[in-house]
Amino acid sequence: MKGIILSGGTATRLFPLTATTSKQLLPVYDRQMIFYPLNTLIKAGIKDILLIVAPEHSGQYLNLLGSILKKHGINLYFEVQKTPRGLADAFIMGESFIDDDSVTMILGDNIFENDLSKEIKQFKSGAHVFAKKVSDPERFGVVKFDKNKKAIKITEKPKKWISDYAVTGLYIYDNRVIGAAKKVKPSGRGEIEITALHNFYLKLGELTVSTFSGEWLDAGTFDSLLEAGNIVKKKKIYKNFDPIIEKAIIEFNVELKELAKKRLL
Ligand code: TTP
Repeated sequence: MKGIILSGGTATRLFPLTATTSKQLLPVYDRQMIFYPLNTLIKAGIKDILLIVAPEHSGQYLNLLGSILKKHGINLYFEVQKTPRGLADAFIMGESFIDDDSVTMILGDNIFENDLSKEIKQFKSGAHVFAKKVSDPERFGVVKFDKNKKAIKITEKPKKWISDYAVTGLYIYDNRVIGAAKKVKPSGRGEIEITALHNFYLKLGELTVSTFSGEWLDAGTFDSLLEAGNIVKKKKIYKNFDPIIEKAIIEFNVELKELAKKRLL
């Protein structure tokens, strides 16, 4: 299983904060947002992770993550996405990285309270996504279930209500996702939508959807960013990190303090 974090985008809803840095490098309580999706993948035992970033922020990502995970057995790769073409672009950009393997993709601004590694570790083939009940389903890709909780329909940002279950930003696919992504035509808003990939697997009868308890935070607006920080603090989500990330952050902090001391001498 390979891992991809889609961490580019323009983050217009967070202007002017994102005029100077990437959304996913903004703080959520005591650490940068990017550590949360990294944690989701590392907890699931994924060792090879591709980080897709916007060109103007690539140096910042390298400074933060370029050397701190390697010594803990995590191989981090970087690719630059010149324009935010849509979520399905992750699998076109990631083709040679994914190679013949399956892939778990997570959005760089998605924070999950619970450990979802069981589904990732048990994945065999097809596609698996995670849904959560929301009060504003029209903002998301939405999944409709039949009475046996089987997914029967997925629609991107439905104008007419079909269900309250949003598809969250964590997706597991087998290797066929690369070919499927290449065939996706841009939608009305000009993006190659990930919903098209879900529908590809749904038509084959190979899409499974699970719901989960615990918080799902998408920190893309001022309010949700603030709320994410507050919830992380209140529920002590920062204590659920994999020891690999904890150690890497502590080591990095020591290194930064040493450098600061040298500058003061
Ligand atoms: P969005 O929140 O949909 O887009 P955005 O981050 O550019 O923000 P805004 O709507 O405020 O302009 O993206 C969800 C996540 O996916 C986010 O972490 C950025 C990432 N992303 C990419 O890396 N590349 C892309 O082509 C797209 C569409 C999103």
